[in-house]
Amino acid sequence: MTETELTQKKTDQKTEQTTDAGTGPRTGARTGAQAGTPSPTTGSPDWSGVRRGPLQPGEWVRLVDAKGRRHNICLEEGKSFHTNRGGLSHDEIIGRQEGFTITSSSGGEYLVFRPLLNEFVVSMPRGAAVVYPKDAAQIVAMADIFPGARVVEAGAGSGALTCSLLRAVGPSGHVSSFERREEFAEVAERNVDQFFGGRHPAWQLTVADLVEALPATVEPGSVDRVVLDMLAPWECIDAVAEALTAGGIVVAYVATTTQLGKVVETLRAHGEFTEPQPWETLVRDWHVEGLAVRPGHKMNGHTGFLVTARRMAPGNKAPVKKRRPAPGAYGVDYEGPRPVGLAPQAAQVADPQQD
Ligand SMILES: C[S@@+](CC[C@H](N)C(=O)[O-])C[C@H]1O[C@@H](n2cnc3c(N)ncnc32)[C@H](O)[C@@H]1O
Repeated sequence: MTETELTQKKTDQKTEQTTDAGTGPRTGARTGAQAGTPSPTTGSPDWSGVRRGPLQPGEWVRLVDAKGRRHNICLEEGKSFHTNRGGLSHDEIIGRQEGFTITSSSGGEYLVFRPLLNEFVVSMPRGAAVVYPKDAAQIVAMADIFPGARVVEAGAGSGALTCSLLRAVGPSGHVSSFERREEFAEVAERNVDQFFGGRHPAWQLTVADLVEALPATVEPGSVDRVVLDMLAPWECIDAVAEALTAGGIVVAYVATTTQLGKVVETLRAHGEFTEPQPWETLVRDWHVEGLAVRPGHKMNGHTGFLVTARRMAPGNKAPVKKRRPAPGAYGVDYEGPRPVGLAPQAAQVADPQQD
């Protein structure tokens, strides 16, 4: 990698970076290194993306100043990093164990650590919007992503979620990512390769539309988990059902209530998924200082909604919901897919607010 210095402003999380662009075929599947091969950068056969030992040239470190402002820099012998509190020599960082404070030429103090995965994904260059760590954690836990799992993901976007999925499945698993936009696929490749220090052996990236490419890429019934982070996940449900193994899980991540309604109803209408489980998470930090213990003032009010459902064995229908739908839920104004076995009178109930 050439001279690369990334500065992240805490307030707007805008990034600025120059890197060597990864070169590769323009389309088609791009697969990883062989399983068992250690990462060329970390030397680790677990491909966790974690580096240990003294800091080396070519590694990324994160500098955090007293006000919490973050700067990510790629270490290079003989180089300096210029801050508004003067310069910092890379040579004073190289060779040391992470977890120390360094002082710039004009007296600014900076904490030096290697970036964690959750720090890397919010500061890396973006093509498409990324899945934030709080939602990536939910996806890994609630979609039950396990070591050795065979996972399909679409779209790859900037590769943030891909990093969490690859870390969860490990080198013995398989993550097949689909991204229909070439320029986003290139961003994802650069980010994922940078995080793992080379091409993860469990990763295959296909530049194509999921619905078109999935049947040709995986055997029917061979996939354990499918993760959909895209504008119209409901368009993929038939292809996903074909790919998933019995008992497999689909999880969709969507930004709006309209998308959530459509994906839930499409899963219900398919008939061979269990009742979809939608939810969202809100994370609030706390200020803890002496007697001043209170919620923090800043909070990400909304990131997205998640929904999971399990694949029934082919030909087996999930039990129809016993409870009557809410009044008007499937009334005359409702135009989306209707649940299998919905009683006609339930569909006819008018919305009381319209009376
Ligand atoms: C919000 S981004 C995904 C972000 C990604 N999960 C991350 O964490 O970096 C959505 C992506 O889905 C891609 N996409 C949308 N529909 C698709 C489809 N049918 N097949 C493949 N990719 C698709 C878009 O091009 C876009 O890059």
